[in-house]
Amino acid sequence: MGCNRNYGLIAGAVIGAVLAVFGGILMPVGDLLIEKTIKKEVALEEGTTAYKNWVTTGTEVYRQFWIFDVQNPDEVAINSSNVKVKQRGPYTYRVRYLSKDNITHDPMTNTVSFVQPNGAIFEPSLSVGSENDNFTILNLAVAAAPHLYPNAFVQVLLNSLIKKSKSSMFQRRSVKEILWGYKDPFLSLVPYPISTTVGVFFPYNNTADGVFKVFNGKDDISKVGIIDTYKGKKTLGYWSDYCDLINGTDAATFPPFVEKTRVLQFFSSDICRKTRDPFTSSFATCKS
Ligand SMILES: *[C@@H]1O[C@H](CO)[C@@H](O)[C@H](O)[C@H]1NC(C)=O
Ligand SMILES: *[C@@H]1O[C@H](CO)[C@@H](O)[C@H](O)[C@H]1NC(C)=O
Ligand SMILES: *[C@@H]1O[C@H](CO)[C@@H](O)[C@H](O)[C@H]1NC(C)=O
Ligand SMILES: *[C@@H]1O[C@H](CO)[C@@H](O)[C@H](O)[C@H]1NC(C)=O
Ligand SMILES: *[C@@H]1O[C@H](CO)[C@@H](O)[C@H](O)[C@H]1NC(C)=O
Repeated sequence: MGCNRNYGLIAGAVIGAVLAVFGGILMPVGDLLIEKTIKKEVALEEGTTAYKNWVTTGTEVYRQFWIFDVQNPDEVAINSSNVKVKQRGPYTYRVRYLSKDNITHDPMTNTVSFVQPNGAIFEPSLSVGSENDNFTILNLAVAAAPHLYPNAFVQVLLNSLIKKSKSSMFQRRSVKEILWGYKDPFLSLVPYPISTTVGVFFPYNNTADGVFKVFNGKDDISKVGIIDTYKGKKTLGYWSDYCDLINGTDAATFPPFVEKTRVLQFFSSDICRKTRDPFTSSFATCKS
């Protein structure tokens, strides 16, 4: 009996020791294997796990808007009072749900180029109201016109068109109109072939953003997803400081093995852009 028990103890100790040694060997080996697998699977090339999630963004991406509602438009227009505003939001849209398009790989530079088709779907459950909620906002076309056309004669003409279209300094527009565009009654009367639709992000649907060229991470995994060029350029070229940089990711992916202390940089072309609207010159805030 006692003998058997000793054997059992010895066998147990031996097996334990063997397992401990194996464990000691396998831990670093396992780490190495995992690291190697991750490095292989996050590179942006056909067949990797990351690639599928990258072509069509695997997670849901939302963009939220808060809009200022002018409370005293008549006071401002008639008595030149200070503007009183009330912020309302968020109004949330799901974006980046469309697959990247025109993807071309360049193995020589370890980069991949693509365009990102634009689309935005209103998400009521993450919004304070409907996208038909109305706001009193500055009339963008009316406010911009005198700055773009300082000529006194042209201004008299524009003034008459503003009156004729019953436009004024402020207007009431829905969230949908403000963001995605509305036909402006004043611009519609201007006797020149100009774009008559105004909106902060107009045109959006059926347009694509880019071309983006990003690093595929094959040579250096810490660069995966980081933008090399946007529309063929390494900087935006209209800001003077870090705002001009584009060398972050698109915020949907980041390189692996990030440390807690690392600052994650991203570039959002929707806000860091020049508007295409002829009646407003460049505006925007920017983050790289
Ligand atoms: C403008 O100011 C006058 C004098 O203070 C006031 O009587 C009038 O109601 C104001 N108009 C508006 C639209 O607030
Ligand atoms: C994709 O490439 C084709 C052919 O080069 C081009 O006609 C098309 O405009 C491109 N699509 C986008 C969204 O840029
Ligand atoms: C843009 O397209 C999406 C998806 O088809 C649609 O839900 C949305 O209403 C469109 N937006 C506008 C402003 O037309
Ligand atoms: C916003 O104004 C439009 C036009 O006056 C109206 O049809 C719509 O019902 C308003 N929206 C809301 C949410 O009240
Ligand atoms: C982008 O470039 C700036 C300036 O050269 C640099 O400080 C920053 O670390 C770069 N960002 C990334 C993510 O490489």
